[in-house]
Amino acid sequence: MQLRLILPFISLAGALLLPNPSGPHPVSMVVESLTDKSRPDPYAPSGSPHPRRVMTSLFLPTNSTAVRSEVRTVPYMTPLVAADYGLLATSIGLPNSTFASFEVNTTHVLAGRRCSNGDRINSQVQTPRLPLVIFSPGFGQSRLLYGIMARSMASEGYAVVTIDHPYDASIVEFPDGSFVRNANISTDDDAALEQVIKVRSADVSFVIDQLKDSAVFRRAYDQHKIAIDFDRIVMYGHSLGGATAATVMLSDPRILGGVDLDGRFFNPVLESGLDRPLLLLGRQDHSSEDPTWPALYAKLRGARVEMSVKGAIHASFTDYPFIVDTLKLPKDTAEQVAGSVSGQRMDAVVKGVLVAFCEFVFGNKTAPEILQPGPGPVPELTVVQADLRK
Ligand SMILES: *[C@@H]1O[C@H](CO)[C@@H](O)[C@H](O)[C@H]1NC(C)=O
Ligand SMILES: *[C@@H]1O[C@H](CO)[C@@H](O)[C@H](O)[C@H]1NC(C)=O
Ligand SMILES: *[C@@H]1O[C@H](CO)[C@@H](O)[C@H](O)[C@H]1NC(C)=O
Ligand SMILES: *[C@@H]1O[C@H](CO)[C@@H](O)[C@H](O)[C@H]1NC(C)=O
Ligand SMILES: *[C@@H]1O[C@H](CO)[C@@H](O)[C@H](O)[C@H]1NC(C)=O
Repeated sequence: MQLRLILPFISLAGALLLPNPSGPHPVSMVVESLTDKSRPDPYAPSGSPHPRRVMTSLFLPTNSTAVRSEVRTVPYMTPLVAADYGLLATSIGLPNSTFASFEVNTTHVLAGRRCSNGDRINSQVQTPRLPLVIFSPGFGQSRLLYGIMARSMASEGYAVVTIDHPYDASIVEFPDGSFVRNANISTDDDAALEQVIKVRSADVSFVIDQLKDSAVFRRAYDQHKIAIDFDRIVMYGHSLGGATAATVMLSDPRILGGVDLDGRFFNPVLESGLDRPLLLLGRQDHSSEDPTWPALYAKLRGARVEMSVKGAIHASFTDYPFIVDTLKLPKDTAEQVAGSVSGQRMDAVVKGVLVAFCEFVFGNKTAPEILQPGPGPVPELTVVQADLRK
């Protein structure tokens, strides 16, 4: 393959640190596997039925004046997931260890101290109640491929949870060392994908329940001296994850608004439409290439916005832009992998849109503000159409 000839000068001598989140708050992470005992996994092999089990990463903004914390360097992906993406990297001539070499800096909140007088004064300060932002990945993808993006959103002051959906992700790795590889689900079969979205939707509602109830998460909120405001929930997703966001909104009224990053839509939401806010953020010309975008847009009864990002491709709405920048890939290879918008700019665009949308949905921003996400100019962004009645 020609790319192999272009890239042999890229050798990965050691670990490569991916960028820190760009917002004002340091971010820490809680990784948790959650088992839904009420739901048999429909994709479990027939010989070994088991309840549905998902993986989650919860990213929490930390307030260094309120909690004791330190910076730790951790792998970007778990080993088997990194090996899987590493195999993909070999197709452009990169070593299979590429993803295994990526690291991120994360904030680790240290166990709380005993109360002193000072703490008692602080405890009178109202605990910040953070809105919750839920993320679902593209079909076949790991939640870990969106970790930089999720951290970045969390650093703006949101609790962000990313979810792995076993059997459609090519691999999901659990903390106990077990893993689930993808089932044989055809991406050409709409009925099969609608079934996947249905299962994913149940995963999302289950994760919201667990974020409320699980002792592990509650301990994390205490440690971070925060609370989650379950009356302020927005969901975003990439590709099939975006379709998932729109679909969960049909069945779960706790989700006040949804953002689809460059994903086509499926039934039932395509037929029924939605009466709550939905934002479509796509690559350039998405809606002329995907008839489900105009079809759903016409059926939206709540606030609706369609935007496009000049220079973006489907993979731009993942961590790939940051990854190709960190690897310093040659320009044409980088554009093939991740579009022509840099990681830093893609972060500014997606996060700007997400923050503006969340604040609009939560009632802090007025309609015109959502169309001009900032801070700073966002020349890559075009508002294709918008109707912001509430
Ligand atoms: C950080 O915590 C302090 C003390 O609890 C509080 O006064 C301050 O408002 C918090 N800052 C943010 C940005 O949450
Ligand atoms: C990453 O964390 C390490 C400590 O683990 C620290 O020495 C280093 O300066 C940090 N780098 C960045 C870019 O934050
Ligand atoms: C890369 O490939 C070699 C040889 O096939 C294998 O031994 C190694 O485990 C792979 N490394 C990763 C990170 O996948
Ligand atoms: C996957 O399913 C298709 C039918 O949907 C079938 O034709 C194919 O043989 C299956 N592949 C494997 C590896 O089971
Ligand atoms: C947004 O509005 C909510 C009430 O809906 C309020 O609790 C919150 O502090 C506001 N956030 C900002 C950033 O103004």
